[in-house]
Amino acid sequence: RDIPITIHKVTGSTNEDAKALAVAGAVHGTMVLAEEQTRGRGRLGRSFYSPKSSGVYMSIVLRPNLAMTDAVLITTAASVAVSRAVEEVSNQTPGIKWVNDVFVNEKKICGILTEAVSGFESGVVECVVVGIGINVIDPGFPDELKQVAGSLSGQHCDFSRNRLAALVANHLLELSAALPDRSFLDEYRKRSVLLGKPIRFLENNVWCDAVAVDVDNSGGLVIETATGRRTLTSGEVSVRPR
Ligand code: BTN
Repeated sequence: RDIPITIHKVTGSTNEDAKALAVAGAVHGTMVLAEEQTRGRGRLGRSFYSPKSSGVYMSIVLRPNLAMTDAVLITTAASVAVSRAVEEVSNQTPGIKWVNDVFVNEKKICGILTEAVSGFESGVVECVVVGIGINVIDPGFPDELKQVAGSLSGQHCDFSRNRLAALVANHLLELSAALPDRSFLDEYRKRSVLLGKPIRFLENNVWCDAVAVDVDNSGGLVIETATGRRTLTSGEVSVRPR
């Protein structure tokens, strides 16, 4: 079956557009792409810098019909999908910083925002929107982003952003069909930039020290702290300088 794709020159947020389409009944795989976003949204209420013609700003409607325990892995799988696609178009090997930030040369080149649309209450996740923003060409990041944000290329890019978007979508659709078997988690662990490293995590507004030791089958980050082993299921983690 054909999958509808909407392409905007400018939009507020492709996640908002995709959620509206999803509520109106959009089929699994429906995509929204934009050349520019004026209100690009990030995790934890942040914004996502989305200047004209510099990145891939896309959202995909998924109707996974998965149990909550499997559906939580969609966002984990999306970071693997982006990493594979980036590797295919460029000769860079991306790393993943838990939960789902994709890094190249120690800079964040992609952020992913997954939002539930429906089915939450019934225990089965019927519909989610996965929003993916990849910085392709260096837009000249504002000062407050320069420390963390990077892009795949400089001013010119020798691959097509459309091809990158298509590869991401294909990998994500393939991975989301195979979530219950969790086989992609080994690839996620291999790509993780945190495992084995001293990290710092935010708890009750205080940074705590730990070492990242594993990613469990629910996508949780297993950490070793001074008081023992625990698993983080969400939140912010950063690598601790030695
Ligand atoms: C993050 O790093 O905090 C997540 C960023 C997600 C950005 C993408 S760009 C396409 C889609 N539309 C949005 O408004 N956000 C996501």
